Amino acid sequence: MASDIPYYDVLILGAGFSGCSLLHYLRRDGFSVRIFEKAPTVGGTWYWNRYPGARVDSDVPIYELNIPEVYESWSWSSRFPDWQELRQYFKHVDKVLEVSKDTDFNTNVTDAVWDEASQTWTVTAENGKRARARFFLTCIGFASKNFTPDFKGLSKFKGEVHHSNEWPETGVNLEGRRIGLIGTGSTGVQITQEAGPVCKELFVFQRTPNLCLPMHQAYLDESSQSDKAGYDAIYQKRLNSFGGFLFDFVKKKATDDTPGQREKFYQALFDHGGFAFWVANYYDLFTDPESNRLAYEFWQRKASERIKDPKKAAILAPKVAPHPFGTKRPSLEQNYYEQFNKPNVHVVDVSAEPIAEFTEKGLRTTDGEYEFDLLILATGFDAVTGSYKNLKIRGVGGVELSEKWAKQTQTYLGLTVHDFPNLMYTYGPQAPTAFSNGPSCIQVQTKFIVDIINYMRDHNYSSFNATSDAETEYTDEINEEVTKTLFPLAKSWYMGANIPGKKIEMLNYIKGIPAYSSLLDSVEENWKGVAFAN
Ligand SMILES: Cc1cc2nc3c(=O)[nH]c(=O)nc-3n(C[C@H](O)[C@H](O)[C@H](O)COP(=O)(O)OP(=O)(O)OC[C@H]3O[C@@H](n4cnc5c(N)ncnc54)[C@H](O)[C@@H]3O)c2cc1C
Ligand SMILES: *[C@@H]1O[C@H](CO)[C@@H](O)[C@H](O)[C@H]1NC(C)=O
Ligand SMILES: *[C@@H]1O[C@H](CO)[C@@H](O)[C@H](O)[C@H]1NC(C)=O
Ligand SMILES: *[C@@H]1O[C@H](CO)[C@@H](O)[C@H](O)[C@H]1NC(C)=O
Repeated sequence: MASDIPYYDVLILGAGFSGCSLLHYLRRDGFSVRIFEKAPTVGGTWYWNRYPGARVDSDVPIYELNIPEVYESWSWSSRFPDWQELRQYFKHVDKVLEVSKDTDFNTNVTDAVWDEASQTWTVTAENGKRARARFFLTCIGFASKNFTPDFKGLSKFKGEVHHSNEWPETGVNLEGRRIGLIGTGSTGVQITQEAGPVCKELFVFQRTPNLCLPMHQAYLDESSQSDKAGYDAIYQKRLNSFGGFLFDFVKKKATDDTPGQREKFYQALFDHGGFAFWVANYYDLFTDPESNRLAYEFWQRKASERIKDPKKAAILAPKVAPHPFGTKRPSLEQNYYEQFNKPNVHVVDVSAEPIAEFTEKGLRTTDGEYEFDLLILATGFDAVTGSYKNLKIRGVGGVELSEKWAKQTQTYLGLTVHDFPNLMYTYGPQAPTAFSNGPSCIQVQTKFIVDIINYMRDHNYSSFNATSDAETEYTDEINEEVTKTLFPLAKSWYMGANIPGKKIEMLNYIKGIPAYSSLLDSVEENWKGVAFAN
């Protein structure tokens, strides 16, 4: 193996929350660490997602790294910061943790190969940069691969087209424009709130209504954040709740309460704002159809009250639930429904009138023609496993990871894979990922990764990989658990259902952060399912 390739103890892909935090802890422990990042700067998700209104749906200080050097010298201007403020935050992270000095930016990794003889990974990027490393940590996030449906005639359209995840750095003027927006995931909802007030006309093409929850944005002043004494306790406390927040499901079934009590409870969750109505609801919300129906009924009443036109209301907030509440990710909204009270903001139900084809001036559905000069594709991602599809990772005997996963996603602990020695990842397949607050999940996984790497150094092990049995058992449990819930009833990206041809399976660990965290702790006690080699 060419010796002119630089060697590191640890090579990390990605400089988002995960990469920055792992770099910090591993470097502190004396390892040589390098990050390869395809973006020109730190920030991860918040570098790529700069579309109008891009904003996080987790509130601060929960949506933050638990590193004192970082949080002690930072304060936010709002409870749910937007992408610009998150970018500023990452500048601060970079300054305090000195991420850039150990990062190669604009370095898009395409290949990684395990070499059994030297027990190292060799990693190659598109720009020709290479590195060898003992440990390879792919912190590439769950949304690194955009998805655009294969629309007929899209190339015929003469206007401007942008995918939300590749928004021009210089911005796009929305004022006075006639806009076609496809997709009503959180991105579509956020863009509607920005475009609605300034556009000439907006057509929102909706396949499935987003069961949006009230955000209750709040502006914060610096003085209210100057005392950080309680922060460490907050970051421990967030690990005690299902979603990694400070609120959690209540230990009651929906039907344990009277209708009056339920109404009050649901209203209190709405008033709290954020994801409370989703993951601090009755504990049987995701398992009992009646509990779920009651929650939907409340939600539907609240949303439809705000929409004046009954035709629009029937599309945005139908009487009959499009899928069990919460089995697709609800988005937070501030004035989403009010946008549709403007005569120039339309919603088109493309489940009833599917998009037939694009034309030079817009698109044609089975029922009508719509004209616009700016097309925004808020069509999301090949989520969770998709991030791995542009990346050839070859483990023992040349087996390729995305090929292994094409049949079925298989991991151990949502962290590592049999036959891929010394490879670990964060915020990816079969971890609490999409059902959790990012930094909370990352906090739990970072601890495990840092611990195992230290343990191996202490015991002179050069490699580990998950045993095949442990991987099968872990994977089977995920697939078994999901059958006890309402999740299979929704066509969601949680289960790969948004991508044609993708295997339908639960891509996330669904038992919540506390169960996940104690599972990792118990593995650390005896390294069950982990085979070390010298
Ligand atoms: C629009 C949007 C809204 C979100 N809202 C929330 C929210 O409300 N709450 C929440 O908890 N989470 C939210 N998330 C999830 C969010 O991704 C996580 O909270 C968090 O950013 C994950 O951090 P990470 O470091 O693990 O991954 P990311 O932030 O995704 O960073 C991954 C990095 O890896 C890099 N990378 C990928 N592939 C390669 C490669 N081949 N070579 C080199 N570098 C590569 C990418 O450029 C990126 O910088 C949202 C995500 C999106 C897209
Ligand atoms: C990274 O490389 C992949 C695979 O070659 C390619 O599809 C993708 O567009 C590249 N991304 C960037 C940001 O250069
Ligand atoms: C690891 O190797 C070092 C140096 O060879 C040796 O001193 C130490 O005892 C070894 N530790 C273990 C646990 O084998
Ligand atoms: C991978 O795990 C197997 C046991 O499942 C073990 O025999 C092998 O040595 C491990 N390989 C490496 C490189 O760690």
